[in-house]
Amino acid sequence: MSRRQTKRLLKKACIFAVVGVVILSSFLILPGSFGPQMVSTKIQGLQEKTQLKMETTQSSFIKESYSAEEKDFMGVSAADNFFPLQKSRPERCSRIREEKLQFYEIVQGSVIYSAFLDYRFKDQTFIRMISIFPSYSESPQMYCHFLDLRTEEYFTSVVEIEELGTNDGFTFQGYLSSCDLPDEIDSYTLCSVNVSMEPESFRQTDENTKQIPLHVSEDQPVDTETYGLCIPPISGEISAGRLVEFLELSEILGVSHFVFYDANLSDKTLRVLQYYQEIGAVTLNPWALPQNIASNIQDDGQTVALNDCLYRNIDRFKYVAFNKLEEFIVPLQSKRTLEIFETESDEDTAGLCFQGFTFDTSKFEEKRPHILLYTQRYAARTKVPTEESARCIVSPKNVFSLELNAISNPSETFYITRNVETRVGHVFRYGECNYDECNSSFQDLTMAKYREELEKRFNLTMIYLQQYRVV
Ligand SMILES: *[C@@H]1O[C@H](CO)[C@@H](O)[C@H](O)[C@H]1NC(C)=O
Ligand SMILES: *[C@@H]1O[C@H](CO)[C@@H](O)[C@H](O)[C@H]1NC(C)=O
Ligand SMILES: *[C@@H]1O[C@H](CO)[C@@H](O)[C@H](O)[C@H]1NC(C)=O
Ligand SMILES: *[C@@H]1O[C@H](CO)[C@@H](O)[C@H](O)[C@H]1NC(C)=O
Repeated sequence: MSRRQTKRLLKKACIFAVVGVVILSSFLILPGSFGPQMVSTKIQGLQEKTQLKMETTQSSFIKESYSAEEKDFMGVSAADNFFPLQKSRPERCSRIREEKLQFYEIVQGSVIYSAFLDYRFKDQTFIRMISIFPSYSESPQMYCHFLDLRTEEYFTSVVEIEELGTNDGFTFQGYLSSCDLPDEIDSYTLCSVNVSMEPESFRQTDENTKQIPLHVSEDQPVDTETYGLCIPPISGEISAGRLVEFLELSEILGVSHFVFYDANLSDKTLRVLQYYQEIGAVTLNPWALPQNIASNIQDDGQTVALNDCLYRNIDRFKYVAFNKLEEFIVPLQSKRTLEIFETESDEDTAGLCFQGFTFDTSKFEEKRPHILLYTQRYAARTKVPTEESARCIVSPKNVFSLELNAISNPSETFYITRNVETRVGHVFRYGECNYDECNSSFQDLTMAKYREELEKRFNLTMIYLQQYRVV
């Protein structure tokens, strides 16, 4: 029996041991920063849920037919209910994993993009869903439905929601939707979750219910040596040179994998990203927001995508960073950013946030036009950091939700966000500067120390891309 399987068994034993005290747990573990309104709906949700649990248990009914996947599972489990299954979860859920990521519309204007199992809390496993709802009208009450394959009994839990970021006046906003995984449901057998407007399992139809695939992490060890980087949705054409410079320099600084969201990129830009995808450095997720939402949400749903990226990478990286294209988290006293994490953080750290300075590319370009690489061309940056341009590297396991420039809620109240002193490291962003602070500039040649290595890597990649007619 592998260590992973043993751990899973132990976890299961634990869950059985705590049956009975779990009802209040979802209420207790959530971060403490929600308004009174949120809390009261939560209590109401819990009462409803308790009631529902009783109802479903009493009025369970027999399911008549099983999908191939379910039969497959039962065949294995019938032989022995106790020992772990032969197939790993990624294998079992392979059919559903191949489905392309998309927005599932529950009702008009309410969509769910992705669903994750959240095992972080000892007493209760949750389903977390990245979703978008109207900001101002009451969000629809939704339910998660589950089938216990052993007893053929259905279980239902109420979906509870938390805001992701702020709506900033837009019609649509991101939410983290959560439902408890009923104790009777073995998470190991789950490949998807039914989200429905209908509280009764047996009244589910294709109209009121969507089957949302559960993200299954690859069976690979967590990468602790480097860090993953999540980039907000991008669209249109981005010059190949700028993209390659961003990717290569980020790698020099310690990023090993990039997660992009494609909100309608040009074919040429896609080809560059696909090259990096083929060598394993990039994951490219589609981000095709429904038209009515796309035009009425802040920054292409940036906060929503970043929280998807957070949950998607909890089991993949020990550290995950969040910044836009042409932004870099730069260490000053060590070569790689991760060394800062090792010295500045401990097990109670949710993440480190770095203050940001802007190199105003609209202003200073004319001074050194002969230099091709933009991180080498601009030498004048703002003197004062701005809150908007702070960026964070987090321990994803310790974070509940975040925004581009801050950790909104840690997963436990005692996890803290540390602000890194600018002498240790900071964020450089290259772009237009629209803040008041922009007109006080300051000579900064920090990036020159990466020049040689960056040029070498940049040249090699560009030659390759040109040779194979990618660009
Ligand atoms: C999920 O919904 C579909 C109909 O959309 C239904 O056939 C299936 O039995 C449901 N599964 C569960 C676990 O409720
Ligand atoms: C995507 O971009 C192309 C060209 O930039 C444009 O013609 C097309 O309408 C866009 N599609 C969507 C769905 O926005
Ligand atoms: C910088 O901006 C402030 C106001 O934002 C203005 O009062 C000041 O004169 C500006 N300084 C320069 C050098 O342009
Ligand atoms: C990269 O290419 C540029 C121009 O093509 C050249 O000037 C530069 O010396 C090259 N740098 C390295 C390190 O190869």
